Amino acid sequence: MMKAVIRGTGRWLPPRKISNHDLAQWMETSDEWIIQRTGIEERYWVAEEGGMGASDLGLEASRLALERSGWQADDLDLIIFATLSPDYFFPGSGCLLQAKLGLRDTPALDIRQQCTGFLYGLATADAYIRSGMAQRILLVGAEVHSTGLDVSTRGRDVSVIFGDGAAAVCLEAVETSDQVGVLAAGLHADGSMAESLMTEAPASCCNPRISREMLLQGKHYPYMDGRNIFKLAVKRLPEVALEVIEKARMEVENVDLFIPHQANLRINQAFAKAMGLGKERVFNNIQRYGNTTAASIPLALDEALEQELIGPGSTVMFLGLGSGLTWGAVLYRFI
Ligand code: ACO
Repeated sequence: MMKAVIRGTGRWLPPRKISNHDLAQWMETSDEWIIQRTGIEERYWVAEEGGMGASDLGLEASRLALERSGWQADDLDLIIFATLSPDYFFPGSGCLLQAKLGLRDTPALDIRQQCTGFLYGLATADAYIRSGMAQRILLVGAEVHSTGLDVSTRGRDVSVIFGDGAAAVCLEAVETSDQVGVLAAGLHADGSMAESLMTEAPASCCNPRISREMLLQGKHYPYMDGRNIFKLAVKRLPEVALEVIEKARMEVENVDLFIPHQANLRINQAFAKAMGLGKERVFNNIQRYGNTTAASIPLALDEALEQELIGPGSTVMFLGLGSGLTWGAVLYRFI
């Protein structure tokens, strides 16, 4: 049976480090508030003048992942690009990345599942590989949030949490009957809650898609009903983790490391508590990167591998909840 196995990973952060103190110069907030409510100490943003889109960050991370896999770009037969901050309304960032990698014919698709983009992307890559439709897939999560944030006090609840960044994973089809690769996945969505976390404009249902009035109202900035999302995350994450562990006919004890989406340190601490996990079994790096949305899980994976917290034979669970609303978990064992 064909299994999707990870051959290499890479991450890339833009060089402009933004501390909580930097944010406090632009809006009414404080280092204490941000650390206490979110755990975030700093994040990376692209240069203030812009010039880098999600595909540019994704390119740097992809180059590293390809190099560590010992692959050339033209070894790829599919690119999956997860982002909520695409370079353009259309075409998708996957196509832009494909061209930047020097490719001219490789299929590329975008996944627009925000914080769970990596989970949906990994399950999609696994399905392509199991069905024989692809052998070597590049899965990328990349975000440029900073150019779309309201850095005045009006936007402080959202703007302090987001960071820019990218991470990429190379997945290869391996014929084996061993219990490796994606062991089980559970993906969910509840579109009735779309408006609890969204950027309203530009929107195809508005004519024109964006107006001066909408700009003045800040409709082009993200809106989040933070308290409700927080409560839901604390409920849904243990639920979906147990669902997927059961699906794989395993026990919580069999999972070496949980790698959750990095939305809020308190959410991940509550998840650990609900699951009865010691802090060494739940990976967190939100302190240094903030919430990098589609990039956050692969970014954490790349660091966990680098720190040798996991390696050959390890079983990890990736999980998260975000805009859509979408949530899910994927259980993976390294070959
Ligand atoms: N600095 C100082 N004060 C602030 C800030 C800030 N940056 N932001 C909000 N406040 C104030 C509020 O105005 C409020 O003041 P009030 O009590 O006088 O009205 C007070 O702090 C508390 O505000 P809350 O919104 O209740 O703060 P909370 O503790 O809920 O933290 C946060 C806000 C960090 C956004 C939290 O709700 C959260 O993390 N939610 C979940 C986020 C998440 O998981 N999102 C999904 C993934 S993201 C994606 O999919 C794109």
